[in-house]
Amino acid sequence: MAQSPLDDGVIAVKDFESLARDNVAPHIWNYLSDGAGDQQALLENEVAWQEPWFAPKVMAGLTQVDTTVTLNGQQLQHPILLAPTAMAMSYHPDGEAATMRAAVRTGTTYIQSTLSGVPIEELGNIAREGGGDWWFQVYLHRDRAFTQSLVEAALAAGASSLVLTVDSPALGARDNDRRHDWGQMPEDGISMHERVFNPFLDSAVGWSDLQWLRDVAGDVPVWVKGILRADDAVAAIDHGAAGVMVSNHGARNLDTIVPTAVALPAIVEAMDGRAPVVVDGGIRRGTDVLRALALGADAVMVGRPYIWGLASHGEAGVAHVVEILRAELQMAMALVGVDSVASITEDILWS
Ligand SMILES: Cc1cc2nc3c(=O)[nH]c(=O)nc-3n(C[C@H](O)[C@H](O)[C@H](O)COP(=O)(O)O)c2cc1C
Repeated sequence: MAQSPLDDGVIAVKDFESLARDNVAPHIWNYLSDGAGDQQALLENEVAWQEPWFAPKVMAGLTQVDTTVTLNGQQLQHPILLAPTAMAMSYHPDGEAATMRAAVRTGTTYIQSTLSGVPIEELGNIAREGGGDWWFQVYLHRDRAFTQSLVEAALAAGASSLVLTVDSPALGARDNDRRHDWGQMPEDGISMHERVFNPFLDSAVGWSDLQWLRDVAGDVPVWVKGILRADDAVAAIDHGAAGVMVSNHGARNLDTIVPTAVALPAIVEAMDGRAPVVVDGGIRRGTDVLRALALGADAVMVGRPYIWGLASHGEAGVAHVVEILRAELQMAMALVGVDSVASITEDILWS
């Protein structure tokens, strides 16, 4: 692998995918890339971002195209966030630390997974030194005191928001993980992944747990990740969430689940501007980002794409993924005739 993604011929985000596959063991690749079941939802997450067509406005007199956004009062250089992904060290020895450095370098908010291989204090120091912004994702452990200690450590290390993931009361049917059990055929048909995470995750979670996390968080905003229905989005805000993340967990849990691009509009409508909406799942192009913003999202997250960058080129790869998406977004904004994220509306979509 060359030092620079450009030397390896990377032009688009998807160019990283095959480079990453060549760089990790097959069982790691399965864990990263697979969706649940027959992987229909994985495909549909991407396909659903192809419509509606854009309807560009010409002669818009653009002098500059500004990608900055404000989320919960915080100004970000662009609306592309790095979604929480477990165990980044499986793809690169410097995993989460390299990702944090790339995020700081590109002005990107990195949402750190509960399931991280690097001490949270170390990640916090990298962000603090570079003036970067990062959030902490929370899975509720059956032992709430354990979760509380993790959250308190993250807040002490400088996490500026918390993200409660609510879409995983159980793990999904990831057949290849089960088949290969991270390199070995399992005797009982249960993968190592399931053996580790099922006892960890608490399935008996309800809205009162959001209240509990808010109490632990104090003034720090708490987002809810894994919302696909308008009624749940409203419930999250009614229970004090600072914002919702429309996500189907990258189609990794439940196959034939609704694509996030399809779920998004009704949630935006139900939220009625009460709180911000972030969406993830299948976003691979700047045009996908623009379409998400036009459908009413305030920002997007990517998962697999930055891990492809990490697995093939470490910090430089993650940074390059963000830079490609941001440049493509800016180009697409110019081409539809908008000069700021705030001025993106549904009007740029064909109806
Ligand atoms: C390898 C991998 C690990 C993940 N781990 C977590 C996790 O620890 N916590 C979480 O909330 N979501 C996790 N997710 C889901 C992502 O946060 C995100 O919702 C999803 O990857 C977005 O879809 P995309 O990969 O198509 O961009 C994971 C996704 C992947 C691909």
